[in-house]
Amino acid sequence: MTAARTELSLDVPHAPGAEPPPPPPPPPGVLLWVNGSRADPASATHLSALDRGFTLADGLFETMRAYHGSLFRLDQHLDRLDHGARVLGIPLPLDLRTLIGHAMRDARDAGVYDAAVRLTVSRGVSPPGLAPPPNAQPTVVLAVHALPVRNAALDQHALHVCTARARRNEHALTAGVKTLDYVESVLAFAEARAAGADDALFLDTAGHLSEATASNVFTVVGETLLTPPAGCGVLPGITRAAVLEIAAALGIPAREQAIVPDQLRDAGEAFLTSSLREIAPIASIDHRSMPNRAPGTVTRRVADAFAALVQRECAP
Ligand SMILES: Cc1ncc(COP(=O)(O)O)c(C=O)c1O
Repeated sequence: MTAARTELSLDVPHAPGAEPPPPPPPPPGVLLWVNGSRADPASATHLSALDRGFTLADGLFETMRAYHGSLFRLDQHLDRLDHGARVLGIPLPLDLRTLIGHAMRDARDAGVYDAAVRLTVSRGVSPPGLAPPPNAQPTVVLAVHALPVRNAALDQHALHVCTARARRNEHALTAGVKTLDYVESVLAFAEARAAGADDALFLDTAGHLSEATASNVFTVVGETLLTPPAGCGVLPGITRAAVLEIAAALGIPAREQAIVPDQLRDAGEAFLTSSLREIAPIASIDHRSMPNRAPGTVTRRVADAFAALVQRECAP
């Protein structure tokens, strides 16, 4: 007998047989480059329909944050992309750094200094089938989305998170690699939202805390910062690494440690980290409020130090 499954109910956007509505216009403030050339975000014809990024999610991406016209920790993002490209066997074009440099210059010329910058690299076009083509020409898309000057995550409401039904597979060949396959995250995020939460936390297959749908997670037990290690299927976040550096600099004890959900009860504080969210305090996990009012003292110290780090590294 198969277990009953809850299906996500997705709104049907138009009645069967009726003309589909026109696609939504691109969000304002998006600048786009496809394979090195500036592209019009309103045009529908950028990529081949046979691109393996589209047909197989066979590719990688990085989401970076530009502050004052400079990308925060570009080198670390490119190193992570490079590692993912080795795992997938995608030959990265050598001129990515130049492309990004030109794009950021154009963005500044267009008055865009604070932005989410997404670099997507797919294996490129191939005939149907799984076999990677021997002479694949990777497709490279860079999109710069203007953002408000600072996210100021701490000024936003603290997050209510729930545990996802699905698990992160720490045994997957792509564990810890930022591939284009985010469908598990998309569904877990939608389920969390449908349940009234802001985000979901994945456990790994062994039942340890892993990460959120597109963020890493930290807990604070006593004065000690804990975050799940790579072995729990987490993406090695650039912000996560910065937080571990900050903790060392501030003398806050911090370590990577496998955490079981019961141990979350020992945590006074918790927060998520990502390039776009920065340091985002958690108010409750599965309807249980964190004992220390969010943002707690340690979260606030880390967030203030992160803001200072960004100012130092991306000075106007
Ligand atoms: C699954 C996942 N984990 C963690 C992160 C945080 O990584 P970073 O700090 O490099 O943005 C992301 C970022 O998008 C992510 O998608």
